[in-house]
Amino acid sequence: MPDMPSITASAFTSALSQAANGVSVVTTSHNEQDAGLTVSSMCSVCADPALLLICVNLDNEFCELVDKSGSFAVNILPSSCVDLATIFAGLGDNPEASRFDSGDWTRLTTGSPILSNALVALDCQLNSSLIKGTHRVFFGDVVDIRTTSGEPLLYTDRRFAVVQPVPL
Ligand SMILES: Cc1cc2nc3c(=O)[nH]c(=O)nc-3n(C[C@H](O)[C@H](O)[C@H](O)COP(=O)(O)O)c2cc1C
Repeated sequence: MPDMPSITASAFTSALSQAANGVSVVTTSHNEQDAGLTVSSMCSVCADPALLLICVNLDNEFCELVDKSGSFAVNILPSSCVDLATIFAGLGDNPEASRFDSGDWTRLTTGSPILSNALVALDCQLNSSLIKGTHRVFFGDVVDIRTTSGEPLLYTDRRFAVVQPVPL
């Protein structure tokens, strides 16, 4: 078999930066300790049973806490939540402050933090996980859903963006 050309990490990330993704803050909680981070890797796996996945860097404390809690929540952000997305990406003005000092948080079934004004909040029981390279892929069984109305926050070309419908 001929050798495959190797793709560098920077070529890969640069290519995928052209994709447009929704932005979510994923959270978990165990023994009154909360953890959360901004992700764009959330996607649906199947609808019946309701199953989704997220990919999280192995270095993030979220991974260890999900192992303990057995659950996590996905908060799909509205376009008004750029500041929150920045804070939960560790890029806020005050990195020492608790990320959860920003935003209004509640809980549903699993106890994972739910953002009151999330466009959609999906509360999940951990189904299983896989390690792939630098990341863990967490599969979650959706056990509760809360929705509000609004426009989603997007991330494309390494910046936040909003939906502009195409006129037909
Ligand atoms: C728009 C956007 C999407 C991101 N998506 C992911 C993701 O899918 N998985 C991930 O592990 N990190 C993702 N990150 C980076 C994490 O948010 C960031 O590394 C993390 O919050 C740093 O946490 P720490 O300071 O606690 O290590 C994303 C960041 C941004 C701004």
